[in-house]
Amino acid sequence: MSIKVSFVSKSKSKKGLLLAILDESLELRGNLASLDKEFKGIISSAIKSKSLNTKKGSSLSLFANNGKVIQEILVYYVGSIKNYDIDKADRIGGGLFSSISKSVSNLTIYFEPSKKVKINKEELAARIIHGIKLRSYTFYKYKLKSKNNFNKSLKEIEIITKDPALAKVYYSPLKALEEGVYLTRNLVSEPANILTPKTLSEEASKLKTLGIKVEVLNLAQIKRLKMGALLGVAMGSANEPRVVSMSWNGTKNSKSKPEVCFVGKGVTFDTGGISIKPSGGMEDMKWDMGGSGVVIGLMKALAGRKAKVHVSAVVGLVENMPSGKAQRPGDVVIASSGHSIEVINTDAEGRLVLADAVTYAINKFTPKRLIDLATLTGAVIVSLGPQRAGLFSNNDELANNIFASGEKTGEKVWRMPVGEEYDEDIKSDIADMKNVGSGRGAGATSGAKFIEQFTQSLPWAHLDIAGVTWAKGNSELYPAGGTAFGVRLLNTYVKDCFE
Ligand code: BES
Ligand code: MG
Ligand code: ZN
Repeated sequence: MSIKVSFVSKSKSKKGLLLAILDESLELRGNLASLDKEFKGIISSAIKSKSLNTKKGSSLSLFANNGKVIQEILVYYVGSIKNYDIDKADRIGGGLFSSISKSVSNLTIYFEPSKKVKINKEELAARIIHGIKLRSYTFYKYKLKSKNNFNKSLKEIEIITKDPALAKVYYSPLKALEEGVYLTRNLVSEPANILTPKTLSEEASKLKTLGIKVEVLNLAQIKRLKMGALLGVAMGSANEPRVVSMSWNGTKNSKSKPEVCFVGKGVTFDTGGISIKPSGGMEDMKWDMGGSGVVIGLMKALAGRKAKVHVSAVVGLVENMPSGKAQRPGDVVIASSGHSIEVINTDAEGRLVLADAVTYAINKFTPKRLIDLATLTGAVIVSLGPQRAGLFSNNDELANNIFASGEKTGEKVWRMPVGEEYDEDIKSDIADMKNVGSGRGAGATSGAKFIEQFTQSLPWAHLDIAGVTWAKGNSELYPAGGTAFGVRLLNTYVKDCFE
């Protein structure tokens, strides 16, 4: 279900719920003043009588008569907006969506912030809509008999702004971003019997219609490229692996090197393999393809808004299953880079997949820098919880830029170490390296150190998104479930650094 949005200078329909956003000043300016006047001062009376709770996010429902109809007006209080940045603006929309009742199908938004607001008012309007769209996502495709008990009915939003044409200019790239976010959330929500390496590669192939070049490697091609690390993981599964590459060049220079190549872990289900996981909570491992989901959604967003940048991407898609054909702890595999790897624990499979995906990304695209995303370790959840993703990098400039984009979008990261003091951790007695650390601690760093071996000294950053990919509860900008963490972060990173 998609919500129709229009930016208008005057409400045409005045259907459904009228929503009046009030900030700290409690002043009724412009379109808010007209609304108040039309409904015989009901909003100003409510302010005067102090019936409005001035706690950020509180609302007050009023029923008013303009001589023609009785209309519900919901006054929504946002508090101080003086220091508003784009993230806080998005959150106004997310917050107000939650306060709208399920039965509302048409919504008209009135807002006239004071001149003191730093962010452009038309951008603010676009951002409010964006926040509503992010928060209103649902995944009810399998609620076959009971869908209507769950969905909100919101179908149309009208927002009043001085310059609707300019607001639309601000909104158009955000709409493309929403579509990328929705795709990522759909992919991580999809169960593993439906989303296999093959069907996930087919979803990526659909991006061709946006002008993205997509190539899918099948099992035979992966074997020919000698991706022994990725193949070792795939061995136990009846679902064959895939490796997908994508490239988007929105610049005029067709010979330029990609500014960045994004690489994603796409384990469509992670049982742990022979080092099998406990059954409690194992269903969560359907979203162990989260890194690849973010990469695919991000490419969709960038192409959707015709980003003036050259970027590329690779995702390694496998299923990690135990079976008579599965790899064993102690096996030695040889990655496409030529490194030998002793597989101590078959549950540390993401880094094995990334080893070959990273090598392929560098050989195919010779990008200027590399950013990988993976739901790689439980250890990063212990360190940072669901609030921040782990950031590991061999390059300060790259790390600082990603960090800054995180603060700006609210998809926050925290830098963790990958120095040579951790080199010993992944040394093997019989091979070039092993896939888990020797020590008891620093599990997220061991994972990053392992991936680093394949980066050929390129500027590289690794985002361990195990703690942020799936939300247990609702929050301001997303409902419980897939968050698509990383799409908004890296969209901003690309925009701020390369466009
Ligand atoms: N997919 C898991 C990591 C994970 C855990 C993601 C919880 C999301 C939520 C990964 O493949 C894994 O199993 N990692 C092991 C590594 C260990 C064997 C070195 C882990 O973290 O326990
Ligand atoms: Mg695992
Ligand atoms: Zn995994």
